[in-house]
Amino acid sequence: MSSPKRKILVTSALPYANGPIHIGHLVEYIQTDIWSRFQKMCGHDCIYICADDAHGTPIMLKAQQEGITPEQLISRVSLEHQKDFFDFHVKFDNYHSTHSEENRIHATKIYECLKKNGHISSRSVVDLYDPVNKMFLPDRYVKGECPRCHAKDQYGDNCEVCGSTYTPAEVINPYSSVSGATPVKKENLHYFFKLDNFRDILQDWIKSESLQPEIINKLLEWFDAGLKDWDISRDAPYFGFEIPDAPGKFFYVWLDAPIGYMASLQQYCDRTGKEFDAYWSRDSDYEVYHFIGKDIAYFHMLFWPAMLHGANYRIPTAVYCHGFLTVDGQKMSKSRGTFIKARTYLDYLNPEYLRYYFAAKLGPDVGDIDLNLSDFRQRVNSDVVGKLVNIASRCSGFIYKYFDGKLTSRFLKDCQDIFQDAVRHNQQIRELYESRSYSHAIRVIMAHADATNQVIDTHKPWELAKKEASNYKVQQICSFGLNMYRQLAGYLKPIMPELAEKSETFLNVETNWKDLASGIPMPEDHMINEFKPLITRIEKESIDKMVEDSKQADMPSNQDPIDDEVTFEDFAKLDLRVARIIQADIVEGADKLLKLTLDLGKPTGNEHRTVLAGIKSAYSPEEIEGRLTIVIANLMPRKMRFGTSEGMVLAAGPGGKDIFLLQPDSGAEPGMRVK
Ligand code: MSP
Ligand code: ZN
Repeated sequence: MSSPKRKILVTSALPYANGPIHIGHLVEYIQTDIWSRFQKMCGHDCIYICADDAHGTPIMLKAQQEGITPEQLISRVSLEHQKDFFDFHVKFDNYHSTHSEENRIHATKIYECLKKNGHISSRSVVDLYDPVNKMFLPDRYVKGECPRCHAKDQYGDNCEVCGSTYTPAEVINPYSSVSGATPVKKENLHYFFKLDNFRDILQDWIKSESLQPEIINKLLEWFDAGLKDWDISRDAPYFGFEIPDAPGKFFYVWLDAPIGYMASLQQYCDRTGKEFDAYWSRDSDYEVYHFIGKDIAYFHMLFWPAMLHGANYRIPTAVYCHGFLTVDGQKMSKSRGTFIKARTYLDYLNPEYLRYYFAAKLGPDVGDIDLNLSDFRQRVNSDVVGKLVNIASRCSGFIYKYFDGKLTSRFLKDCQDIFQDAVRHNQQIRELYESRSYSHAIRVIMAHADATNQVIDTHKPWELAKKEASNYKVQQICSFGLNMYRQLAGYLKPIMPELAEKSETFLNVETNWKDLASGIPMPEDHMINEFKPLITRIEKESIDKMVEDSKQADMPSNQDPIDDEVTFEDFAKLDLRVARIIQADIVEGADKLLKLTLDLGKPTGNEHRTVLAGIKSAYSPEEIEGRLTIVIANLMPRKMRFGTSEGMVLAAGPGGKDIFLLQPDSGAEPGMRVK
């Protein structure tokens, strides 16, 4: 099966140096790391490069806030990032920074080359100026309505809703997020990259490459909107590189950020004696892949290939986008405790659980992926502990106790078939890894774990051993089990490298892809080591503590910040009415609910509603029947486990016995609006 050795350069997006790595970021670094480890395991020459993205206004302002220099901030954050990645087993071949000499040299070189080739222009534009803070406002500090899709509260440089980019002057109803003042317009010289010069090459790129369908559509949309000049200069004060021959003007962070891929590679080459041009020259025989999130596709799919081409470099082989992480179906949120930092996770849980779960969810598409915390626990416990590691733990004892730790390589017929079937699937699993269809790969691998456990169950080695401990059949079945374990842990090695390594130590054997494809079991009389638990179950408590800790992170204790603002119009949409509880019933099987039948009174035409309310701890049905309450009358009916609720009664209080539901009878009539 030996395939030609490929040369591969792979990158993940460079994380900003103004904050910690969180589990959202980790989707990407884990996705890329699995891919890179897989390529290496197949024997290819693959290097995985990354760096911190250290420039730009947010970093400058963050350092100011902390009363340190930007350099101090980024060197501290870089160490934290690298420690987080290391502990999550994300293994880079090099990790550098965009604030580096290598990056200054490459950025300057690329800029000068673009300029020489006629791809840079300069002209005076009207900028937004904060009259209160007396500064030109960097894009991030102008907010307002997106000029394309009209989403509100978008940043001045790009829209998080529709993904388009624009200049702050185009933003509708802008305001300064530094002072809140309405910015005034002022003339200012800017430098531009002429993206439209690259229309043809970009169009070819879209057609020729194995780009994801969703991304092709997005690119075509952007094409239709027109390839406008890209503003690449920013005014002092700015943390970045000064533009050659343009004092007081700096490269916009997104100009030198992707060049950071090159800078980190340069550092790698200098360290290892490799040749930089072998990777980026037009005649390079390397494959170059960028893994990124869908939010930064515009920069990587248009600007970056255009810049590379304009500066006489090769363009990437492909750019692979992934979707965004949600937790329990919602955007990560500090107040819900689901904005989980890499470090907080590591304080409570094994990183390989998350690697496994993300892999089990990741496909080649750009769909968002959800970390459902209870599914996470169940899935990892049942697959990894219950199915996979179970094979090793149930088989190893017999081998160790009764056969001096020695394996046989001669399996029973039905076991042999299962083993060979798992070996045969190596090609499919390999293709699934290659195409980033990790979730599919895991399904295939786990089906073999099921088959293994089933055949062990039918042979019942424990019963055979009870009759005669050194029964050869017992050795055969358990040796088969341990070979299957080796095969399957081997398939999962890119995903769970630590488990794989511990398993290799336990089995006393190394495993690479060529071993997985060989179909040769461990040799006759191969000695294994004593089994020690390889991984433990996830306890619910650990997850709860992690969430609790994440709520408290960055927040003085006993604080509970107020949720996102709603407008008066949002509030005014609620139709609050007085209603009479004409009946209250216990709901079979529900601990907290009462089923209320409400009469909404004459003005509504005596409409009746069924509402399920979580007030059983405070009220018995008898004490509230006939009394008044307040109801949100225009709430869309909601299907709940115990039926549909057609509204909601307003109650307040700390809970338990203290929930206050009732509207005093005096002066109120059902159907009255509540003001
Ligand atoms: N600095 C830029 C990238 C420059 S690359 C030349 C940047 N940094 S980032 O820290 O905001 O994000 C780094 C990567 O993590 C991006 O690819 C981004 O899409 C990804 N993610 C950040 N939050 C994420 C989620 N919540 N979910 C999935 N990926 C996320 O962008
Ligand atoms: Zn928009």
